[in-house]
Amino acid sequence: MQKTRENAQKLLDYLYESPTPFHATDNAAKQLATAGFKELHENDAWDIIPGGKYFLRKNSSCFAAFIMGTADIAARGIRAIAAHTDSPFFAIKPNPQMTKNGHIKLNTSPYGGVIMHTWFDRPLAIAGRVLLKTDNFLAPAEKLVNINKPLMVIPSLAIHLNREVNQGFKINAQSDTLPFAAMVNDELEKDDYLINLLVAELGCAPEDILDFDLCLYEYQKGQFVGQNDEFISSSRLDDLWMVHAGLAAMLSAAPSAYTKLLYCPDNEEIGSLTPHGAQSRFIKTLIERIVPRGTFGQTMANSFFISADLGHAANPNYPEKDDPTNTTLLGGGAVLKYSANQKYATNGYTGSIFTALCQKAGVPVQKYITRSDIVGGGTIGAIMGASLGVNVVDMGMGVLGMHSIRELGATIDNDYVLKVFGTFFDN
Ligand code: CO
Repeated sequence: MQKTRENAQKLLDYLYESPTPFHATDNAAKQLATAGFKELHENDAWDIIPGGKYFLRKNSSCFAAFIMGTADIAARGIRAIAAHTDSPFFAIKPNPQMTKNGHIKLNTSPYGGVIMHTWFDRPLAIAGRVLLKTDNFLAPAEKLVNINKPLMVIPSLAIHLNREVNQGFKINAQSDTLPFAAMVNDELEKDDYLINLLVAELGCAPEDILDFDLCLYEYQKGQFVGQNDEFISSSRLDDLWMVHAGLAAMLSAAPSAYTKLLYCPDNEEIGSLTPHGAQSRFIKTLIERIVPRGTFGQTMANSFFISADLGHAANPNYPEKDDPTNTTLLGGGAVLKYSANQKYATNGYTGSIFTALCQKAGVPVQKYITRSDIVGGGTIGAIMGASLGVNVVDMGMGVLGMHSIRELGATIDNDYVLKVFGTFFDN
């Protein structure tokens, strides 16, 4: 149990230190560099050697890491784990400041499928990236910021002013969810609340700030829950849990005959259609650059991809939402995700490979499929399968409250996923 708890604490630390996809990528890059992975850049020529360890970033919010196989890559193929770096949040809009009666609010926009009511009445902080002016207009300087202070709150309306609140509360994403940030008297502060914060954080001049990608995040760190710490409660389990597990497997893997790849794109929560999302050419181009010319198809035919994204565990308060014959439980092991309409990439063939892998790892497998009268979500699994022509399985670990500001997982499931990924990347 002690080791299990230590493993999960590492996950909780990574989740807290990664409030945005930029930070998730930066923290992964630091760990990879420390472990001897060499950073590649898209705009350079690459010199890849068998057994070499490399990583690559895109937009600072997507990354891939790989260990080249020591044998013919086309014949031995690639074993890949893929998980997305983004989670639903509130993004700060351009010119966000709204001031009335000396009270400052920030204008925001939901990103992805936020469960908005879970964001009310919680101290919130700000993180993201800021772009600063340089001598070259084509190359602004990028700075990550994490203003790790409880800066603002989205306040609920008192029940006395909305007696119907417990009968169902319709939330207007423009007017009901704006964070209350400050009370000011000073005329200067009034105009530049956010810019003043950034200037203080970065030590730059206000006029150097060209633009930003910033969002709100929950200030409170994730924690264990339960008499025996059997649960983990945190923001961004979807999908940084799987990013963290994939990274752990990559960091402890050794070179062997086949090539190992970890691919962590951004923007899954909004459909993946960005240069750093799974619908882009990024991963295809990367693979084309590391295999001998003309062997892409052969390489893909010999490869196997795991699309790792969280699954829904059975919520004890809503048994009617479970499929009649397939129930997945917190703490029940890896969740194989099925969809008759192939919204998940799993089919009998790829499901059988994953099942055999879990058996080898000594990890239980559960099968998830949505009720036929419920429309489920999708993942990057189907996108990768179609665009690369590769065999993909969709799996994850079970979670409650997916897309809530705090999702709930089982501590033991973290050990299970580490075992499965470790075995997948094992010699
Ligand atoms: Co997800």
